[in-house]
Amino acid sequence: MKLTKLPYLIAIDGPAGSGKGTIAKLISKKLDLNYLDSGAIYRIIALAATRENLRSEQAQELVSLVKKINMRFESEEIFLNEEVVTNEIRASEISQYSSEIAAHLPLRAEILSFQRAFYKGNGLVAEGRDMTTIVFPEADLKIYLDASPQERAKRRYKQLIVKGNNVNMSDLTSEIEARDKRDIERKVSPLKVADEAKILNTDDLTIDQTVNKILSFIT
Ligand code: DC
Repeated sequence: MKLTKLPYLIAIDGPAGSGKGTIAKLISKKLDLNYLDSGAIYRIIALAATRENLRSEQAQELVSLVKKINMRFESEEIFLNEEVVTNEIRASEISQYSSEIAAHLPLRAEILSFQRAFYKGNGLVAEGRDMTTIVFPEADLKIYLDASPQERAKRRYKQLIVKGNNVNMSDLTSEIEARDKRDIERKVSPLKVADEAKILNTDDLTIDQTVNKILSFIT
């Protein structure tokens, strides 16, 4: 598929386990666009913060920490300074912690320009919680990707098991519910459906069907 407008910007938001990562990555490859996994940024910060023994409510210290660390995405790997942390940031404690620190406005403000810098070249597919609303309100296409909590827990379970993480379904379901609640109810940049966003429930869609549906929205 060829884009008629360049650069092109696609923003995808949705709750944990809705398939945003897989779908956004595939679309970015198909359209030759950059890819931003914004959740990974919160996860890298969460990992760095736990290593420094910071508590999730220490907003100022978290901001200072962000100024100090180097976050990098290189092909399929994610780096905290010079260390590959691709798998470590998917641990369940990091999921919860990242959702907690994501409630701080100064922290979100600190990483705003870092996120926006991914929009370059041919354009970008960005996924997270506030891509359509705060980080890229000018996006050419906005998608809200959803799925039932049961389906999302099942998908996350499969993903984590394949990567060798030790998880069980009931812990995962509670973790997803807790994160949904926090990410939706927080005052700062909560997860919500942007005005112009197309809502896509993927419970009964395969990955390919979801990708094709999104591509069909591109005019
Ligand atoms: O997408 P994810 O599950 O990897 O995100 C981890 C946490 O980071 C999520 O629970 C909330 C936070 N997050 C956010 O607040 N805003 C984003 N754009 C992306 C993630």
